[in-house]
Amino acid sequence: MNKKLLTALFGTALVLGACGGGGGGEEGAESGGGDTGGSTGEEQAAGDVNVQAAEQAYEQTCASCHGGDLTGAVGPGLTQIGSKYSAEEIADIINNGKGQMPAQGGNVENVENLANWLASKK
Ligand code: HEC
Repeated sequence: MNKKLLTALFGTALVLGACGGGGGGEEGAESGGGDTGGSTGEEQAAGDVNVQAAEQAYEQTCASCHGGDLTGAVGPGLTQIGSKYSAEEIADIINNGKGQMPAQGGNVENVENLANWLASKK
């Protein structure tokens, strides 16, 4: 019983931390709680993004053109890419390329996770 309570508290803390106490709830993250009930992701409680994996994928695949800190190099900066594109659109760009950017879908293990992470950059 104690363990269950602790788990609930821990989960709440993660969610609160991730949201930074902001208002809005524009993404409807809270209301989407129905999906999160499962035990699918081990460390994916905060949002649905595995930040570590996303950063790693970015470093390996994107940083050479978009800069190690998302500020851009050959490609444009992505520091606020989330206010320009949705996660779906970013995933589409990764999978199919865009203009001068070659398709990267085959180079990224979890395109969706990376796209979700980038979409949170606003
Ligand atoms: C070979 C260099 C290169 C690599 C590697 C690369 N990109 Fe790009 N990317 C570009 C260029 C150049 C553009 C600008 C394309 C255009 O609009 O003509 C771009 C554009 C984008 C855009 C749209 C930016 C905007 O403001 O319209 C996104 C999002 C993006 N890249 C994400 C990624 C991600 C995520 C990865 C890694 C999976 C990646 N890119 C890897 C060169 C690259």
